[in-house]
Formats: sequence, C-alpha cells, structure tokens
Amino acid sequence: KHSQQDDLTQECHDLISSLAKEQGWILSHLYQYQGFWYPNTLFEGLLSCQRHFKARDTDIILITNPKCGTTWLKALAYAIVNRKINPPKEDNHPLLTNNPHELIPFLERKVYVDHQVLDLTESPSTRVFSTHLPVELLPLSIKETKCKVVYLARDPKDAFISLWHFANKLRPQNSGKLQLEEAFDKFCKGVSFCGPFWDHVLSSWKYSLDKPNKVLFLKYEELKEKPKLYLKKLAEFWGCPFSLEEENNGVVEEILSLCSFDNMRNLEVNKVGELNKSFFRKGEVGDWANYFSQEMIEKFDEMFFDKFLQCGLKF
Ligand code: A3P
Repeated sequence: KHSQQDDLTQECHDLISSLAKEQGWILSHLYQYQGFWYPNTLFEGLLSCQRHFKARDTDIILITNPKCGTTWLKALAYAIVNRKINPPKEDNHPLLTNNPHELIPFLERKVYVDHQVLDLTESPSTRVFSTHLPVELLPLSIKETKCKVVYLARDPKDAFISLWHFANKLRPQNSGKLQLEEAFDKFCKGVSFCGPFWDHVLSSWKYSLDKPNKVLFLKYEELKEKPKLYLKKLAEFWGCPFSLEEENNGVVEEILSLCSFDNMRNLEVNKVGELNKSFFRKGEVGDWANYFSQEMIEKFDEMFFDKFLQCGLKF
C-alpha cells in the first residue's frame, strides 16, 4: 500500500541525496539544507511540520540552538503555564517524573515523525512546542499567527563546549572520542547540528527586534543571573503574569527551585537512560575557560564578537 508517508520518505530521500554533506559530530552525516546543517533523520519531521503545523494565536513556541538551555526553558515553560492545575510544590508534579523533553515536544521531532502526531485538536488552549529550527525554516503559520515565540540564546563558547561534551556522550564507543580541535573546526565552519550557530542566533535576534511583541529574546546567562526577574517576564509575555498573591506566596521561587539544575539532575527520571542524563552536565556560565586555548579565544572572538556586536548583541 502506497501512503502519503511513503511519498514523504521518498521525497526526503531524493532531497537528502542532492544536498552537500559533511561528517557529523555523533554518528551520521550532516546535510546542508537552506543554509543550515541537519542529520538525515530530521528531514521528514522538518518537511512535515513545515507543511502541516497550524499554529494557534494562543500557542507558545520555544526556539533554541542546541545546548543553549532548551531543557531548562522547557521545564520553566511547563511549570509556568500549568501552575494552576499543577502547583509547583505538589508531590506528583509531572516534572518530577518526566524529563522536560517528554512534556514539551520538538515540532520537528516528536510531533510529526514516528507517527507520534499528537492529537493537536484536543490539546488545551495553551500549547507549548519547542524547535531547533532557525527562523528561516519555521512553519509559516508560526509567523502568521499571534503565537508567542521565545528564543533562548547562550554564549557561543559555552554552547560549543556543551555540544562537544554532549556529542561525545552520545557517540558509539567504537567510534572513539571526537577531539576538541576537530569539533572546533567544524563549529567554526558552521557545520554543527542546526548550524551555523551565529546565523541561527542572529536571525532570531533580528526577528525579535522587528517584532518585539511576538518574540522575546533571552540569554541563558541573564536567566542564571536574575532568574526571578526573567521568570516574571516570561509569564507576563505569555499573558499569564504572576498575581500579587502568587508572588507573596512564593510561587515564583517554587517554580525556580523545581526547575533548578540540581533538583532536575537528581531526579530519578533524569538519572536513567543515557539521553535523559546527557541533558544535565554542569549548568554553569563560563565553563569554556577550562577548555579554550588563547588561539581558540581569538578565533571565536573574531568570528562572533564582531558579527554579534554589529547587530547590537553581546554575550
Ligand atoms: P552544560 O553542558 O554547559 O552544563 P540543552 O537543554 O539545550 O540541551 O542545553 C544543555 C545545557 O543546559 C547543559 O549545559 C546543561 O547542563 C544545562 N542545563 C540543563 N538543565 C538545566 C537547568 N535546569 N538549569 C540550568 N542549566 C541547565
């Protein structure tokens, strides 16, 4: 039986074989599609969500470059949006038994691949999705509706070190370790998962300047430094600000503590399984300094600092 799924699989196969490819960081190759690098496993989900996802005005979309704090942002978003039904202090809060990635799906992964299409019609009025797609590749309906977009960015040096560790954790043992220098060269060439890193950041930054009511651009470092302030900002941006009563009752602090690195990392659910575990490493700002040589610092600064600064962006 010939299905739409088969057609899409064939289309992806044809598409992928026409794209430039490079050795990836983990196992598979990365393929360059409309300027960005992806593993072959992502294409079905990517095309499918571009074609079929219908955003609603009430949706919330979280966008990140990999390793910039996606897991944390997902946890915070889930806890904020559902706080009336699931108070952050309750003993059986879903975040205590589910990895945040299970609660907030990636549009291009879970939602439109592996027949895991969620029943999108029956979802509650506020739906939260995440994506690693750059603004250029987002499903059109995200741009055309009033749904709210949050982009979480991170200092490229920390994001790179985080990605390097992550790739090494997930690499099959028999393929050996990916050396730091090799990873660095790939990253600087733009060949990283969803790379080039800087294009991903800059297009969202510009989008946020252009549409400040629609796109909130946040940095991991800001969130670490002033978590309370930014948590309140997020809730306000999503149209569910904390009431005075909630603030007085410590709900903001409770959410932060539920979603804190130490709390999440030590949960049973996040200790089992290589993948769940791999989302929690150090959770700090500035760990790059333990790895970068002077030469690497100069090369990175040359590549990023000016590019970002020209656009008014600084880490
Ligand atoms: P490090 O490798 O620098 O520790 P992502 O979720 O986008 O994959 O990003 C992973 C990075 O976020 C890792 O950074 C991870 O440790 C950190 N992280 C995960 N959960 C966090 C949390 N609750 N608070 C702060 N950082 C967190």
